[in-house]
Amino acid sequence: MPAAFRPLDDKVSMMSNDSQNSHPHNDESPFHNVAAIVTGGAKGIGAAIVRRLAASGASGASVAIVDFDAAAARALADEVPGAFAVTADVGDYTVLSEAMEAACIRLNGLDLLINNAGWDHVQRFTDTDPSLWDKLIHINLKGVFNATHLAIPRLVARGGGRIVNVASDAGRVGSSGEAVYAACKGGTIAFTKSIARETARHGITVNCVCPGPTDTPLLEEIKQDERAAATMDAIVRATPNRRLARPEEIAEAVAFFAAAPAHVTGQVLSVSGGLTMAG
Ligand SMILES: NC(=O)c1ccc[n+]([C@@H]2O[C@H](COP(=O)([O-])OP(=O)(O)OC[C@H]3O[C@@H](n4cnc5c(N)ncnc54)[C@H](O)[C@@H]3O)[C@@H](O)[C@H]2O)c1
Repeated sequence: MPAAFRPLDDKVSMMSNDSQNSHPHNDESPFHNVAAIVTGGAKGIGAAIVRRLAASGASGASVAIVDFDAAAARALADEVPGAFAVTADVGDYTVLSEAMEAACIRLNGLDLLINNAGWDHVQRFTDTDPSLWDKLIHINLKGVFNATHLAIPRLVARGGGRIVNVASDAGRVGSSGEAVYAACKGGTIAFTKSIARETARHGITVNCVCPGPTDTPLLEEIKQDERAAATMDAIVRATPNRRLARPEEIAEAVAFFAAAPAHVTGQVLSVSGGLTMAG
């Protein structure tokens, strides 16, 4: 029998076996006893993910918020039961390695990695230079490689687990002014599928959530630029739901993959109010 993500897979099999009358309590979180790391968890979508996973307080996940904004991570950890802060730049393998080691000692292992940390700067490609490309790749692509590389042996040791990557619709359909960012996110999508293939035999699933424009501090930063703000308004008008996503809506999709059965792997889910419907 393949290894499994114990806390969740035990519940899924219990739910499919009525005759044993062994349903979990309805109010029990699927993240009860789950040890989780959320990168970039201090603000925006990451903070909503931290809250969602830890939502039920004592019965929610234990969550390490791995973020390079130490103050914001600590402030959120003070507020969310079961959460604690660890400072690291996800793009720096050595620093992240130490941070994840410290986090996993405190968590007593690892069941769930959410690769959410990301950053963007909107500018026409021909006006950008290699130092910006390096920064975008460092955070958005190498950060995902680093955390995944450091997490897999721990998930294998646990007998299975879940990885959920937060990419972007920019990586699915492209986005002008975001060419390198979109390349990183497209890379994250391809990486998700490849790692899903490599780790399935260990009971590890790897899936990807692609937000459309979402109301976060990052979007506020992008909208400081007048042209980017005008583009964002046009995008909202073109969105069937006619509004930005809320971080909690992205967190809900992440929670779905984090608690989904082991057969759900290598998948990409867009959360964009219908803005993108390409396959
Ligand atoms: N907001 C959007 O419209 C949108 C759309 C599509 C995808 N996304 C993606 O969603 C994810 C979250 O974005 P957000 O809008 O919440 O951003 P945000 O800037 O509001 O929050 C990102 C968090 O990541 C942290 N972070 C950034 N770089 C880091 C690094 N190198 N190491 C550690 N922590 C780091 C920041 O300190 C911050 O706490 C990102 O991957 C982003 O690319 C966002």
